[in-house]
Amino acid sequence: MRHEISAVVESPLVQIATAAEAMPGSIKLCYGESDMPTADFICRAADEAARAGHTFYTHTAGAPELREAIAIKIRELQAVSYRPSEVMATVGGTMAIHVTLRALVGPGDNAVIVSPAYAIYVNSVAMSGGESRQVPLAANGARFSLDLERLERAIDANTQVLVVNSPSNPTGWMMTDDEQRGLAAIAARHGVTVLSDEVYERLTFDTDIAPSMARWIDDKDRLIVVNSFSKTYNMTGWRLGWAQASESTIRTLYKAAEFITSNPASIIQQAGIVALRDGEDYVRDLRAHYAARRAQVTAALGTLPGVVLPEPMGAFYAFPRIAGVTASTLFAAELLRATGVAIAPGSAFGPSGEGSIRLCFAASEATITEALERLGRYLRLRIE
Ligand SMILES: Cc1ncc(COP(=O)(O)O)c(C=O)c1O
Repeated sequence: MRHEISAVVESPLVQIATAAEAMPGSIKLCYGESDMPTADFICRAADEAARAGHTFYTHTAGAPELREAIAIKIRELQAVSYRPSEVMATVGGTMAIHVTLRALVGPGDNAVIVSPAYAIYVNSVAMSGGESRQVPLAANGARFSLDLERLERAIDANTQVLVVNSPSNPTGWMMTDDEQRGLAAIAARHGVTVLSDEVYERLTFDTDIAPSMARWIDDKDRLIVVNSFSKTYNMTGWRLGWAQASESTIRTLYKAAEFITSNPASIIQQAGIVALRDGEDYVRDLRAHYAARRAQVTAALGTLPGVVLPEPMGAFYAFPRIAGVTASTLFAAELLRATGVAIAPGSAFGPSGEGSIRLCFAASEATITEALERLGRYLRLRIE
């Protein structure tokens, strides 16, 4: 086996979830997904698509009508213009990220990654034989912010890509205008491409939408935006996402994708078109639901001893620091054993996540109440 692949470590999230599944009465807040099923109108669309004969291969980059629907949605939401040929449907945002990093980074190259971050970036870079340079967010008490000077210092002549995810998994941090402007300027100064992972773009609390980096970077050869149906429409298991960039970048990416996954499933692509077309009321309700859960989690964690929670501005995660926790994987395992509550250890998101835990609040009010009561009891016992 090649070292680049065999060295990939099994996600601690999978380990925690597997242990939780074997425990009766456990509560799983460790994964990044909602406990709600996909909406009926989307399921019906998939059913109809199968019966209407959408059962063949499509173009690797997706059916023309899906690429067009995505381009229309980008314009409607972000007021930036992308042609259908500048969009490529992928097997989840995961595939878009992987093929992008695969295309940009090789042995001797590095990727600068704003962290803590979803583990796919470091692992995709590692699988490509490159080096990851993780630049931690600055944690100022109850806020995260981007240390632009530190970010720029991490870049050198071998840096091929700067990776940012806003709203962020796991922190809930959302880039400010100044941070976006600053990051765009740094990328331009060094001639570095930006990979902007915007899969939580619609899940924001104090604004209608997280502004895309495409509002700040005009050169589509220097920006690849990744997005997904997974979080916006509760379609995690359907595996549909997209990449947007210049036409020539998209062509390069889909040429490679042809021999990795080929096109995302035809039936799912048709359901995606319907989600984009008819899903606005659904997204509005979902945001209201998550806003209520965020308020619940923020209030409850605020009462717990030794817990500091930077307020999540977007996505559906709380990422509190827990006083005295220096090995979050151990903490997560002990918490699960003692209470049946499965959370993700902060270290799963890079060294700067150590000392924190990630709790996904895309669950029902009752589930979160129960989980937080158990966590509270555990933390109080721990400090007694
Ligand atoms: C930040 C981020 N990007 C990308 C993904 C991949 O999502 P999917 O492949 O389901 O579209 C996830 C999933 O958790 C994520 O949290």
